[in-house]
Formats: sequence, structure tokens, C-alpha cells
Amino acid sequence: MGSGNKRASWSGSLAFVLAAAASAIGLGNLWRFPYLAAQYGGGLFIVIYLALVVTLGFTLMLTEIAIGRKTQQSQLTAYSKLNGAWGFVGIVATIVPLFITPYYCVIGGWVLYYLKAYAVMAFTGVAPMGEAAAESGAFFSGFISAPFAPFGYGMIFVLACAGVIVLGVKNGIEKSNLVMMPILFLMAVAISVYVVCLPGSGDGLRYYLMPNLDSVTVNGHFSLAMMGKTILGAMGQMFYSLSLAMGIMITYGSYMKKEDSIEGSVRRIEVFDTIIAVVAGLMIIPVVYMFAVKTGVTPELLAKHGGDAAAATKAAVHSAMNAGPGLMFITLPKVFATLGAGGAWIGLAFFLLVTFAAATSAISLFEACVASVCDLLHLERKAATFFTAAMLMFLATFSALGYGPWGDITLFKMQFLDFFDFVTNCALMPIVATATCIFVGWVLTPKAVIDEVEEGGRKFRSRGLYVVMVKFIAPAFMIAILVSEICRAFKIGGWSI
Ligand code: PHE
Repeated sequence: MGSGNKRASWSGSLAFVLAAAASAIGLGNLWRFPYLAAQYGGGLFIVIYLALVVTLGFTLMLTEIAIGRKTQQSQLTAYSKLNGAWGFVGIVATIVPLFITPYYCVIGGWVLYYLKAYAVMAFTGVAPMGEAAAESGAFFSGFISAPFAPFGYGMIFVLACAGVIVLGVKNGIEKSNLVMMPILFLMAVAISVYVVCLPGSGDGLRYYLMPNLDSVTVNGHFSLAMMGKTILGAMGQMFYSLSLAMGIMITYGSYMKKEDSIEGSVRRIEVFDTIIAVVAGLMIIPVVYMFAVKTGVTPELLAKHGGDAAAATKAAVHSAMNAGPGLMFITLPKVFATLGAGGAWIGLAFFLLVTFAAATSAISLFEACVASVCDLLHLERKAATFFTAAMLMFLATFSALGYGPWGDITLFKMQFLDFFDFVTNCALMPIVATATCIFVGWVLTPKAVIDEVEEGGRKFRSRGLYVVMVKFIAPAFMIAILVSEICRAFKIGGWSI
């Protein structure tokens, strides 16, 4: 991969699709999609999300992959190779994975810790979380605020990813995906079938899948502002879930062979990613719903809603779904604990699935950093991996210790982990996406991307849609996201979700 070496490549189109899908399928699908869908209109959110994926998501992913394959560069140098004046976009796009990878690995460490806890529970019957399910809240906060453990598990996660990356594109990334992705799919299908078949899952399923207009109405009237908020939420989720605007698809596209179809690959990646997101909801929402109805409707809550049981139930479900990271690390363990002896095995299967999803995504983030280091410094893969791993470990230390020993240090009133998440999602990624659309739509012109997609005489089926999207609609949407994020940062209005 150094300047003199031939660039690495995937062994074929399927390997590329699997790698890109492995990057896309991650914590965003398993945890963020279900709770956003549950909160923002169920089926309505899902329909909006799907419409965005096949139009806007398609446009951006295709653009990134085509830029990568055309330039044979990682994101850092791809933009400047196309046009020197736009090289800054590549720099911002490289800062994104540099900021995200460390904290993503720290969260990966949390997942590993839970995997270990469930393995112990399943195989020995000893319950490290404490007998009472209610204690799992303390289990989580005790862990993330411990002086060393979150750091230690985060480092194990970084080193495991480095171990895969150092082996290279074919022998490392491709092979590890061949093991992890099928297991992930099987576990997801098995757990969701189990949950859907549980007696009483119907209400939760309806809550998740039926379109619900509550999220777009105020006092019974349709609200454009609420609709805008729901669309922006779906759009933010789509970016994160498809691993867009952070250079990964450019780097992965640069390893793609000229004879493989970019358009067909993008469509397949979208299908895989969306299936896992929807299936994750089937795994999580019905059980959290049942649990919230059973335990969340307290006499105080009932009194607060003037004795209206339906309103109190709705509020209890809403607050259970809105628990943020707590949904995965606190609420679900409580739910597993109510499933009797089998609960530990379900928990083990679930956290194995989450570990693989997080690992395959982290590997892609890591690779985007390593590829940039290779292209910039003309280093060999091995040296670049060591260098990057050291840098990521250093940066991860802040997020790992940010809830514990360094809890008093905050940046703009945020802990380190939240700060890195905020800066990337709310500022850098919208900037990269907006600049990419304007660059490709108006400076480079869509023809450059179209030629790459049609390489070898291939037909670009959605060509018309692509041109309209990349020139007009995508920039307009991107600017809307940017404005909404600025409003959120400066607390103007209440648009973002
Ligand atoms: N797309 C992944 C997900 O859905 C997350 C991810 C984010 C992967 C950033 C790479 C980069 O969780």
C-alpha cells in the first residue's frame, strides 16, 4: 500500500459488499435505529428512513465509492488529487474517523465486558451482575466509572482490531468478515424469532411497526416542524448507519476492482444494513415494551396522568425507549434477567452479536485511519498500523477515563466521549457531506462519477435520479442538517432530535 506498492484490492464484488455492509452494520443499527423508530412514529419513521436510504443515502454512498475507486486514494488524498482547492474536505473527512474510532473502541470495550459477564453467567450460573435485575444499573455505572477497567477493555478492543488490520485487506478484513458477519446474521434472526414468538409480544410489535402520527402532530394537528424534525432525525441516523461522510467508503472504494459494479454493490449494502436495523427493532422493542408496561407504570406515574392508564403506559414505554446507552447496557440486562435461566444465554447471544457488529465497524474506521497514514506518509501497512494504533490508544484514553478518574474534566460541559461524538456527528460530518455534494455536483460535475460507474460499458440505471440528487436535493438537505445542528449547538429553536 505504500507509494511504490500496488494498491490492495478486495478479492471480488461480494467481498467488497460484505466489507462495506460490515462497516455499516454496527451499534447504530442495533441500538440507535430501534429507539429512534420507536420514539418517532414507528412505521412512519421506518418509511421515511427507507425513502431517504434509497435516494439520499444511495447518492452519497455511490459518490464516495466512485471517488475512492477513481482516485485509488484514501479520503485524505482523494479530494486533493481531484482538485487541489478542495483538499481540505479530505482533511476534515480524515479527522472524523480519527475522532470516532477511539470512542467507538471504548464503547466496544463496554460491550466486551458485558460479553464476558454473560459468558460467566451462562456457563457457571454465577451472576456477576448481582441477583437482583435492578442492580444492573449500578453494574453499568460502576464499570464505566472504574479507574482502570474501561481503559483495559477499550485497549483490548483496539488491539484486536489492529490485529486484523495488520493482516491486510484480503487476509485480515475480508477473512474476519467471513467469520463474524454470518454469525451476526444468524444470531439476529434467531433472537428476533424468539422474541416475536414470546407470548404478549404483539403490543410491542404494533408499537414498533404501525405508523403512528403522534410524532408529527401537536394537539391533534399536523405539524410541519415536527415532521421536519422526524426527517432530520432519520437523515442523521442514515448517515451514521451507512458509515457516510467519514471517508470509509472512499477508502473501501479505492480497493474495489474496476470490473465490479458500483451501483449494484451500493444497492446490496443498503439492503443488508436496513434489514439488520429493522430486525434489531424486532429483537429489542417488544421485550422492552413488555418490560416497561410491567414495571414502569408506577402508582406515581398513574397519578401524574390523572389515573389515565393508557397515557401512563405510553409515558412508561417512552421513557424506557429513551434511555440512550442505558437501553442496551441497563434496560436490556434487566429484561434478560426476567427471562429465567435462559436469560443468560440470550444475553450471551445478544452481546456476541453486538461485539461482532461493533468490531466490524471499528475495523472499517481503523482502516480509514491506517489508509490515510499509508497514503500520506508512504508507510508500509505494518508500520502504519502500529503508528495508528498508538495514536488511537492515546486518544481512547480520554474517552475511557472520562466517566471515571477524569470525570471532572469537561469540554464545553461534555465528557470526552460525548464531546467527540458531538463534534463529529453535529459538525464535521455535515460539513464533509455538504462539501462533497457541492464539489461533485458543481465543481467536478456528476459526469466524473457517472463515468466511473459506467466503466467498462456498464449501464447506470439510476443515472437521472443521481444527477438531480447530487446537484440539487442532496445539497439542500445537507444544508438543512447543518443549519439544524447550528441551531441545536446555539440552542435556537428545537429542531434536532
Ligand atoms: N455505521 C456504523 C453503525 O451503524 C457505525 C459507524 C460509525 C461505523 C462510524 C463506522 C463509522 O453503527
